[in-house]
This record gives sequence, C-alpha cells and structure tokens, in this order.
Amino acid sequence: MSTPLDYSAALPARSSWSDAWRGWLQRLYASERLYRWSLANPLTRRVTRRRTRQLFDLMAGFVHSQVLLACVRLQIFELLRRAPLTPAELAERTGVPLAELQRLLLSACSLGLLEHRSSARLGLGPLGVPLTTHPGIAQMVEHNQLLYQDLLDPLAFLRQDRSGDMAAYWPYAHGGGEAVRQPEADPQVQRYSALMAESQGFLVHEILSSYFFDEHRCVLDVGAGQGRFVSALAAHAPQLQLQMFDLPPVLAQARTRLEAAGLGARVALHPGSFLEDPLPTGADLITLVRVAHDHPDAVVRQLFRKAHEALPPGGVLLVAEPMARAADEPVDDQADAYYHFYLMAMGAGRLRTPQEIAALMHEAGFAAIEQVPNPMPIHGRLVVGRRTRCLPYFSVDNVNEV
Ligand SMILES: C[S@@+](CC[C@H](N)C(=O)[O-])C[C@H]1O[C@@H](n2cnc3c(N)ncnc32)[C@H](O)[C@@H]1O
Repeated sequence: MSTPLDYSAALPARSSWSDAWRGWLQRLYASERLYRWSLANPLTRRVTRRRTRQLFDLMAGFVHSQVLLACVRLQIFELLRRAPLTPAELAERTGVPLAELQRLLLSACSLGLLEHRSSARLGLGPLGVPLTTHPGIAQMVEHNQLLYQDLLDPLAFLRQDRSGDMAAYWPYAHGGGEAVRQPEADPQVQRYSALMAESQGFLVHEILSSYFFDEHRCVLDVGAGQGRFVSALAAHAPQLQLQMFDLPPVLAQARTRLEAAGLGARVALHPGSFLEDPLPTGADLITLVRVAHDHPDAVVRQLFRKAHEALPPGGVLLVAEPMARAADEPVDDQADAYYHFYLMAMGAGRLRTPQEIAALMHEAGFAAIEQVPNPMPIHGRLVVGRRTRCLPYFSVDNVNEV
C-alpha cells in the first residue's frame, strides 16, 4: 500500500462564506424544476447542456477509448492517411463485416477521429490526424490496455496491493534499480524504453520551447532512457556538452541508438542507479524528465539531494513531468484523473503539484525555485531550482537572520 498523501497545503483557504455559497449552489443543481427552467431559458440553456454532455461523456468514456483502440488495431488511420475510402473498401481491407464496421466508423466520426467526405467516403477527422503523425499516441493507446485491465474492478484495485499488469510492466518501480540488473529483465527494459522514447516527443517540445539553455555549458539528463531528449537537445543547443545517467541495461541500448545518430562521441554515458550511486559531477544543469513521479517522496528527496550535491554553485535542477492541478487552479483538462490512476497502478510514485515538487526541492537545498510556463501543460509542466552561490551561512534559510 502507498503512503497517504498530505495534500492540505495544496488546498485553497476557503471561508465559511464560500462553503455556504457552494452548499447553496449544490442544492440549486439538485433542483429538477431549475433544470427544466434552465433548458427552457435561452440564456442558461448552453451551460446546462454543456454540463449534461460532460457527465454523459464521463459515463461513456470506456466506449470512447475502445472505439479508438479498435481503429488503432485495424490500422484505420493509416489506411485513410493516403486517401479517403468508402466503408465497403475499409471492410475489405480490415476483414470486419461491413454492418459492424459501419457502426465503428460512425462512432469514430462522432468522436472527431474520422469525418464524412464526398461520394460516401470517410477521411481522417481533426483528432485522427495526429495518430498518423505521432506513432507514440497509438503505442500509448495500446499500452493503456494494461491499465484498463487493472482497473476493470476499480474497488478491488483500490483495496489491494498493486500487483497487476501495469506494475509488472515497470520492473524498477518495485524492486528498485536491482530488479532491472537481472538478465531476464532485458526484454522488459527494452519494451518500456522504446515506449518512453516514442512518447517523449511532446514533452521534449515543451521543454525546448520554454526553457533557455543559453547559460548552460553541460547538461546531465538523469533517467535519460534511450536519449531522445538528449538527442533533441544536441541539435537545439550545439554548444552543450551532454551526459546521460540511467540503469546499466537501459544505457547499453541507448549507446547503439546514439551511435547510429552520430552522437556517440558527444554524449557521455554514466550507468548506475540513483538509489545506490551518487550522480556524476561536471554538469551545470541536471534534468529529470518523467522520473520523479515514478517514485515515492523518500526516493525523490534522496534524488534531489544527490542532484544538489552533483551541481556546482549556481547550477540548476529542472524537473519536467505531468503535474497535478492545485485545488484552486481552474480545471483546464481532466488529465489528473488519468495520471493519478496510472501512477497508482504502476507502483509507489505519485502525481505531484508544482508546489509539492518545489517544496521537495527546497528541502534538498535548492533556492530561486520557479515554475517555467509552457504552452501545453497536459504533456507535463516544468519546475526549476538553483543551487545557491552563497556560502552555507548565507544560504536562503539564514538570509533573514543576517
Ligand atoms: C518513465 S522513464 C522516463 C525516461 C525518459 N526520461 C522519458 O521521459 O522518456 C523513467 C526512467 O528512469 C530510469 N530509472 C528508474 N529507476 C532508476 C534508478 N534507480 N536509477 C537510474 N535510472 C532509473 C528508468 O530506467 C527510465 O529510463
């Protein structure tokens, strides 16, 4: 079982007035008469319809993701990438009976994955196009089946220790670094590393378009996987020296990829486990991309402390990963629900708010901690902190006393 979260610090301070107001709204929403009145009134109809649609979509979400999965498995997006086709042509190429396939195609149209074209043909819809340009999305759709298997009985999932398919997929999330040093873990390591490399592109774009690398000389990416981020960084900032740290079998596979990309000489590889080993020194920026959320607070504390020790004065730690919405942030998307359950199924990690990450960084000795705004937070958010240049007596904690 994981440790209960203390999220009280992330909650907004609410007055009893605000509670009374919300209680009144709750009674209002429960009124059948008000519901009917709001639908009849052109000024309120849109809001009521939107709420009802949102609730319907929540109820129907499983069907939506199965429609997407069926389209991915039948390679419908690939088939329609070249040119629109009729349902009969798609039935012939997929081997699914026409009557049933039509139902799937109409459902995919209603979800924006496909759309109707002239001469009774179907083409890619606005949400179908990205599936043909980013292979990582289809891979995640397929990978999510592990999670959905684990969640088939959500109460059993919540009440028992996590030991389902998703947990088995991530060997390091349970046995620490040791679990993946065994030779039999090789195929598992290869599988998760390939998935990570395919799905990292969106977050890499967020980092490169939001953070200035100009002040840095050398970057160490910890939990670097196959080196997709480091390879993109090599092209983005040619002045940088680059280092990668990850478990030995992961870096053995990364070496082949980096050499094929002509980066073998530019990137220094440091195999090890941040649970047992110190981090290598020499970098003035350490990055943790989708790493901290895999681990419990105790491991993250240790990792941030090791990053602090490895950095020179003025050096920076950058954490980039999906982060939770603080309770007083407006609801922009529903990604938190997915990530909370994904990380719970995976093992001992958790989704943290930027404020929680900042607090853990502060504990490890970092100062000048800030969130770096990025254009598409659903892929992940960025928090940076700096190792102070002050001598210990003048560190941030003591400054007020001076
Ligand atoms: C979720 S993956 C993220 C990989 C990559 N940064 C990305 O965003 O695609 C987490 C990475 O942390 C590495 N990792 C997990 N435990 C580790 C440990 N104890 N020491 C070093 N690396 C570790 C894994 O091997 C994996 O490559």
